[in-house]
Amino acid sequence: MPTPAFIFTNNDTFLENGLTKCESPSNIALVKYWGKKEHQIPANPSISFTLSNCKTTTTLHYKKLANPTNEFQFEIYLEGNKQDDFKPKINAFFKRIVQYVPFIKNYKYKIETSNSFPHSSGIASSASGMSALALCIMNMEKTMHPEITETYFTQKASFLARLGSGSACRSLEGDIVCWGAHKNIVGTSDLFGTKYPYEVHENLKNYQDTILLVDKGEKQVSSTVGHNLMHNHPYAQNRFQQAHDNLDKLIAIFKSGNLTDFIEVVESEALTLHAMMMTSLPYFILMKPNTLNIINEIWKYRQKTNSNICFTLDAGANVHVLYPENEKEQILAFINSKLVGYCQNEHYICDTLGFGAKQLSNN
Ligand code: DP6
Repeated sequence: MPTPAFIFTNNDTFLENGLTKCESPSNIALVKYWGKKEHQIPANPSISFTLSNCKTTTTLHYKKLANPTNEFQFEIYLEGNKQDDFKPKINAFFKRIVQYVPFIKNYKYKIETSNSFPHSSGIASSASGMSALALCIMNMEKTMHPEITETYFTQKASFLARLGSGSACRSLEGDIVCWGAHKNIVGTSDLFGTKYPYEVHENLKNYQDTILLVDKGEKQVSSTVGHNLMHNHPYAQNRFQQAHDNLDKLIAIFKSGNLTDFIEVVESEALTLHAMMMTSLPYFILMKPNTLNIINEIWKYRQKTNSNICFTLDAGANVHVLYPENEKEQILAFINSKLVGYCQNEHYICDTLGFGAKQLSNN
């Protein structure tokens, strides 16, 4: 069912040629989105830290067509190289959003995109990539409709990003974003991400995320296949309820700053995500031996030092090491002495909480 509030209604597309350039970061979920219904509606609410250094920069060049057709006309370049294999995904995105931004049919595009992280790092670029492109399209809309409010602009950018990739809707703002209706978090919606609206204790500000690249290969399970595994999954209903409950726990944790409780929720969510994959049909193990080696080292280190280090995982083998900023020095020393050996080519990426997508130019 379409969402009328986000349908663009003005038809005089007076823009001729132009470009808009935006950057958008990746995000890392604390409570995971895993399972969706039709039209990119999540099966459960999720919440994430917005990142800062892992980001996509996209320039959308547009040129008005004399004779628009029903086909979308565009070329896409990644780091300056033509990337025809991205076309089906972008085409599917345009098809999903065209009813909300019908003007997109009237232009042809050159899309230039680049990631701050290596394409083959195993870091998903769909959250940063789709949110950057959605923001570019909203910049076109705003140029045609300058009166739209900031709230409408951000919500619709997130709404469009969601139609490209669910987790992308959590990248527009920061530093903590919820997506999916939750009864105790005001303003949450299945349709777009919203900034976490309540108090966050100092202990949880400026969190660090060091991403250990255990396996830089292509994703073994695409997100579409992955989410579909939750249909008819024997534990699905309990899992969806658990996500609601974990969000309730996080509300209290964000307020109190209790990091022991934070670690328990975050690590349990990561392992549950993988447990869902291991117990679905077909089943998958996306962790690698070094994923487990790292987890065990983190647990040993935490026990020995009382550190607040913890880990989370996305749908792959890489490990996100999360920790408060005031432990940065010791934890980086630990990573360098004990964990880099488990990373492919000793490769890791240091990131920190950020504040979302940005417009870089629009003319
Ligand atoms: C495990 O957002 O990549 O990272 O909506 O099909 O594009 P699509 O899925 P995607 O799924 C991400 C799942 C996750 C958990 C999360 O980010 O919440």
